[in-house]
Amino acid sequence: MIIKYPQELLKQVRERTAGRQLAGFTPGQGPLHPDIMLVGEAPGRHEEQVNIPFSGASGQELMKLLNSIGYSRENTYITSVVRQRPYSIKQVRDKKTGELVEKRPNRTPTKKEVLAFAPLFDWELATVAPRIIVPLGNTALQRLLGPTANIGELHGQKLVRPIQQAASDGKGYQWSTDDYTLVPMYHPAAILYARRLLPTVQADWQKLGQVVTAGVKKE
Ligand code: URA
Repeated sequence: MIIKYPQELLKQVRERTAGRQLAGFTPGQGPLHPDIMLVGEAPGRHEEQVNIPFSGASGQELMKLLNSIGYSRENTYITSVVRQRPYSIKQVRDKKTGELVEKRPNRTPTKKEVLAFAPLFDWELATVAPRIIVPLGNTALQRLLGPTANIGELHGQKLVRPIQQAASDGKGYQWSTDDYTLVPMYHPAAILYARRLLPTVQADWQKLGQVVTAGVKKE
């Protein structure tokens, strides 16, 4: 299922991101009330083109990990804290022709951009209402648990705590009154850059598999 965001919130995002280098709009995807909601950083070029979250190279790694605990794209909700592709503009010399050409590579979203999308993400989380939130990498983790949270310390751990939600003045965050269950994971792109992380990431996902199963048994 492709989620339909409220027009009012989309308008607010447009106003708050006006003039920024952000392209496309890739909606979150998946069933409501799933066991797992995967939260990435922002769509990349591939996602912008096909409009499916985590459908590029990182997505392929992510699907292997998800499949390793018996889940798939069909039964998992997939989104990210920013819904447009952040890009930078670079003038690069073409090696063959020597001409200057403009490139628009992906970049990490700024804190302001993450904040601009925060009310939309809060709405999405409340609507999807997953059992477990899985932030992938520091951008998603810090959006939820604040700037001191670090994926190197928290990966693969089950955390039950309040999360940050957009404050109504649009200038920052406030803590939720409810507790949420999170199991932070390294972003799958980290494996592409540093293959040595793979055994750690695989072990973290097995822990997530145990957390999901433990919750099901209790119910
Ligand atoms: N990285 C993300 O965080 N999200 C995507 O959809 C793709 C890459």
